[in-house]
This record gives sequence, structure tokens and C-alpha cells, in this order.
Amino acid sequence: MKQHLKSPVFRAISEIADDCDKEAYVIGGFVRDIILNRPTTDIDVVVVGSGIELAQKVAKKLGGLKISVFRNFGTAMFKYRGLDVEFVGARKESYQQDSRKPVVENGTLEDDQNRRDFTINALALSLNKKTFGELLDPFNGMKDLEEGIIRTPQDPMVTFSDDPLRMLRAVRFATQLGFRIEEKTFEGIIAQKERLKIVSMERVSEELNKILMAYKPSTGFKLLDKTGLLPMILPELQDLKGVEKINGIGHKDNFYHTLEVLDQLVPQSDDLWLRWAALLHDIAKPRTKRFDPNQGWTFHAHNHVGMKMVPKIFKRLRLPQNDKMKFVQKMVELHMRPIVLSEDEVTDSAVRRLLFEAGDDIDSLMTLCEADITSKNEVKVRKFLRNFKMVRQRLKEIEEKDRIRNFQPPVSGEEIMKTFGLPPCRTVGEIKSAIKEAILEGEIHNNYEEARAFMLKKGKEFGLRSSEPPDSSRG
Ligand code: CTP
Repeated sequence: MKQHLKSPVFRAISEIADDCDKEAYVIGGFVRDIILNRPTTDIDVVVVGSGIELAQKVAKKLGGLKISVFRNFGTAMFKYRGLDVEFVGARKESYQQDSRKPVVENGTLEDDQNRRDFTINALALSLNKKTFGELLDPFNGMKDLEEGIIRTPQDPMVTFSDDPLRMLRAVRFATQLGFRIEEKTFEGIIAQKERLKIVSMERVSEELNKILMAYKPSTGFKLLDKTGLLPMILPELQDLKGVEKINGIGHKDNFYHTLEVLDQLVPQSDDLWLRWAALLHDIAKPRTKRFDPNQGWTFHAHNHVGMKMVPKIFKRLRLPQNDKMKFVQKMVELHMRPIVLSEDEVTDSAVRRLLFEAGDDIDSLMTLCEADITSKNEVKVRKFLRNFKMVRQRLKEIEEKDRIRNFQPPVSGEEIMKTFGLPPCRTVGEIKSAIKEAILEGEIHNNYEEARAFMLKKGKEFGLRSSEPPDSSRG
């Protein structure tokens, strides 16, 4: 282990801990991750005694580093060469039924390891000189790391009741690391799932985001389903589960379809928000589902209804209500368009409309749509992908020709008002949108001259007279 403790920060802690006659250990995620060979920059140091005092001395020794002290929590931290180093006194914690906030007392290293979430997160390495690099592993965490097992150090009923967020952490670690949740631990989650209610939604979403960013997010959502946690977090996703049959005709299970889309997206994009869009792209299918004797199952306008559901879900999960959410909405709303386009004859105006509506997000939309193909029929899949390639090619050609992507109307509302001597009114909006339509339909090109000429023609149709010469400052 010593080779992982080469940073001068460990040497400094070692020397000062010995000088002060204190035990110091690096513990938790850092130890787990170095053993698993995962990159890590967070170092948690436990001191038997005051963590703050030791941190202050170490920071001084390392050249007077700026240190943040949180007296309420008994912690202190500083940054050192890209590492976040946090110090805390070893503690013993006891919890109450209705809160994640523990009553804290000073304790030994064992007490501190005991209060941690999983055996693989309770490993500690000694930093004192005599025992430098020695592993302290009272719960066989090393074996669990080797075998890929998530297990609580104590009775799972206690560990999860103490801090219900840990149930989600179990699912998240299982997903991130590709580990399995040990049986008793799994049962503990099922038994304690109701306790998730006391966890703040911000914390829940942090874990969801980490699951979404894992290499196989479906694992996490299947575990959330199996443990019964999913309906408490995302009931809308739970509702996608199941297949209904009428007259022997069934539809696909949209829960598993969604998870497949999500997994297929992973190698193509590491944009968290595109992954959210994949998770929510069919979210309105249960609400829009109908059986038509001629057509079979239909989900009319599920993209549009789904787009409208996004803000509510984001609000509940305390996810951002800003342009990230708008992006997810846009992806959900438009997710069927490239498919329709690839099935029909691809007309220039349809391509221009898609470019206009998707704007700079067109590549993300195409990536999502390609991931949305989950048919088991190889021939069909190949055909779709071929068509998508063609759509991408047409998008490129038309964008190069017409520059629709960041479409700015070549004639402004102000110019329309000035030209015809109009106050702000409906007619101005109508002329403006007629110009936009003419460009998208390919009646005129996307430039000032043609747009102005079209505006004058339109004005005439409205019985308006122009009083202004063209804007000579325009190209
Ligand atoms: N921990 C815990 N219960 C929690 C959160 C954290 O017991 N609800 C303990 C674990 O020992 C964990 C350590 O605190 O290893 C540090 O927590 P944190 O930084 O949140 O997690 P990491 O394990 O480092 O993993 P990650 O950074 O991926 O969240």
C-alpha cells in the first residue's frame, strides 16, 4: 500500500501525528479507489483526537496552506496539489428515527469504521511512522472488494436506518463498480425503503446523476426497481413497466426499452443531460397509450406530453430549472422527428424545419435517436442506421447551404414596423412568421435581399404601403 502514499501530504501527516502522539489514518473512498485503481483526489483523514488541530499543523508544515475549518462538524480541509484533504476526529455516532443528523461523540478508529456505510468504504491505512501503510480492515472489506460485493459492516437494518441515503449509495456503488449487493444488505434496503423519505431530494438526485453517468446505468435502475426504491423517486419511470395485451396484441415494455436506450447512449455521449433525456424520452407513454383495433397500440403525442412532464419531475428532484432542463425538454419533444424523417421521403423543407427547431442541439438529437433503436431485428436496425446516416448527410448539406441552425430572421420586427409605419401589432408578427415559413419551405433563400422583397410583397397583400427605403447598413 505504501506506494500509494507517496504524496508529501502523507509524510507531513505522519510526522506531525507522531510528534503529537496521535493516531492518524487515511480512510474510506480513497483507500477503496486506490485498491480498485480508480482515479481519486479526495483524501479523508481520521485522527483519534482533534482533526482540526492536526489539519492546522499539517497545513502550516506544507507551507502555510489556506485551510477551511468547520467547527460545528469538527472537520477541517485544505487543497494540496490537486488533492482535497479533509480531516476529522474519529467518532462514534448514534442516530434518531426522524433525522439523518447523528448525535456525535469522540471515539476510536474502530468506532469510526463501525459507523460507515459499507465494508469496502471502511478500510483504513495507518499513517503513523511505525505502522505506515498498514491496512486496518475489521470487516473483511478487502475480500468484498476482490469479490465485488456491497455489504454493510453492521446489521443492514441499523446501517440503513441510521442514514437511509446509504440505500441509494448501495445501488450507485453496485452500478459504478459493477458489484453485487449482498443478500442481507439487499433485504435490508427492501425493509427500510420507506426511510428514504427523510432524505433530501438534492441528495437523491446526486446519486441518480452518478448512476446515469456510470458505464451501464440500466443496472442501477433495475436495482432501484427490485428494491422498491424507484416508485419513491421516479414513479413515472416505474409506470413504464409492463406489457398490456388486447386481442393478443402487446406493446413493448417501455421500462426496459428506456434502459436499453440509456445503455446504448453511453458510448456515444457523456452529457449528463442527454442521458436524462434518454431516461425521460418515453415518459408519457403510459398517459398517452390507446388501443386502436386497426392500428394496434398508439402513443399519440407522447413526445409533447412528455416534454410537459419534465419541469415537474425536475422540480421534484431539485434538478436545475434552467437551460439544462430546457435542453432535456427539447430532446424529449423532438425525439421522434429524425425517425419520421428517415421513414418518409426526406424533403429539404423537412430537414430545414428540423434544423430550425433543434438548432445547435441537432447532433445531440441525432445521437439520442440512434440510441432509441432497440429492435431485435438486425435487418431493421441496419436499415434505420443507414437512413439516419442519410439524414445526417442531408442535415449537413442543407446547413452548409442555408445556415438554418442559428436562424436569425433576416428582417427584424422593427424593420417591418418602420417600413410600413406600423405600431407593434399582430400584423408585424404575421409578416415575420410568413418570412420564416417561406425560408423554411425553400420559397426564398435565407438572406436579407430576398427576405426584404418577400416582406414588401406580403405587406402589399395586407394592403400596406412602404414608407422606408431598405436598411442600407445590411449586407
Ligand atoms: N460515508 C458513509 N455514509 C454516507 C456517506 C459517506 O458511511 N452516507 C462514509 C464512507 O466511509 C465513505 C466516506 O464516508 O467512503 C466518504 O464519503 P463520500 O466522499 O461521500 O464518498 P466516497 O466513498 O468517497 O465515494 P464518492 O466520492 O464516489 O461519493
